[in-house]
Amino acid sequence: MSDLKERIAAELLAARDRSLAYTDAEDDLLVRQHSALMSPLVWDLAHVGNYEELWVLREAGGITPLRPEIDHLYDAFKYPRKDRPTLPILGPGEARNYISGVRGRVLDVLDGIDLDAPDPLHRSGFVFGLVIQHEHQHDETMLATLQLAREPGLVRDGDLPPGRAGGAAEVLVPAGSFQMGTDTLPWAYDNERTAHRVELPAYWIDRLPVGNRAYADFVDSGGYDDPRWWTREGWRWRQESSAFAPEFWTRDGDTWWRTRFGRQEPVPMDEPVQHVSWFEADAYARWAGRRLPSEAEWEKACGWDPEAGRARTYPWGDAAPGPDVANLGHRAARPAPLGAYPAGASAYGAEQMIGDVWEWTASCFLPYPGFRSFPYREYSEVFFGADYRVLRGGSWAADPAAVRTTFRNWDYPMRRQIFSGFRCARSASPEQA
Ligand code: AVJ
Ligand code: FE
Repeated sequence: MSDLKERIAAELLAARDRSLAYTDAEDDLLVRQHSALMSPLVWDLAHVGNYEELWVLREAGGITPLRPEIDHLYDAFKYPRKDRPTLPILGPGEARNYISGVRGRVLDVLDGIDLDAPDPLHRSGFVFGLVIQHEHQHDETMLATLQLAREPGLVRDGDLPPGRAGGAAEVLVPAGSFQMGTDTLPWAYDNERTAHRVELPAYWIDRLPVGNRAYADFVDSGGYDDPRWWTREGWRWRQESSAFAPEFWTRDGDTWWRTRFGRQEPVPMDEPVQHVSWFEADAYARWAGRRLPSEAEWEKACGWDPEAGRARTYPWGDAAPGPDVANLGHRAARPAPLGAYPAGASAYGAEQMIGDVWEWTASCFLPYPGFRSFPYREYSEVFFGADYRVLRGGSWAADPAAVRTTFRNWDYPMRRQIFSGFRCARSASPEQA
């Protein structure tokens, strides 16, 4: 097998190991709906197999459907998440059998396929990249489900590098144009294309994500009771949700505690804040006299190399993320402390842009110039518009295969069961502050 085929086979296996680890539980835990926001875990498990069957076996491999009668059950657009437990979906044993049957045939297709073929689904293994990233995205979704379920059993924790106090609070990104998006990364999604020049005035962006200490200051100073900091929509959400702090936080006297996968612990004040909605991130920024960065500002600070005049795949360059530069791939079940990755700094000196927490940006999810839906409209195109906000950079739960400078995630501004945090920015010229 070619090096690329070996790599694809290894990545398929790694994603599957994760899915099986998060579903290595009693049936009851897998079929139960832990939150109306989420599917039962067993739905995600069979869904990744069904997606793999659809794209690799049927579309790329021309193989006749194995179980066409179940397709509709795993179509994410057919039934809302809250209704999925009442559907006749596959049980845990059947689901494991089904996905392993699909996987066996997928490896046969991989063996026979020509990865240099002009077909854009085949070229550079795009269709395999599609299913590998898709499985990792659902693995992250399963972790969010396990967090909501307050379920400690399946979620491995681990060690992370220590934090580093001190250093500049913000970094300056001088005025100038940069390349946003990509035409060349082989596994980039349609929404990351096409590459285009964006001109930005000078701005300051936080060197690090906003930490729990700073966020607790916002909470303790009455930030959740003061409508001045919130947009109209945000204030309505704040009142209807009764949110008083990030999700999973509770107060005991003077101490903030959090529940992390069912275990109670004091909130570590030197970690990036996570489980905040866009509304909360936006309110914090206003309270702090700042604002959220636009998506373009975030991407330039992350990946642009002004000296070379080119975009880097990651802040530190083009080398794959290792444990010394970023907290990705569920090495531990939490963000790393602030300052843990000096070697992962961007050309402008911003740190922890990749990994730890997804970072909310000010921007709505919109197509780039020259966007063309590929290979299907329901990945990106149907979500474009004012309903969603873009998140960037990936969390500790995101896999390196599914994160890069140009990668775009999106969600509703009220969502916070995801591993979401943020950093702030401000314009460098006072008249634009
Ligand atoms: C890109 C993370 C918003 O999980 O809803 C999964 C990815 N698309 N299955 C999601 C996705 C189809 C998507 N996000
Ligand atoms: Fe999906």
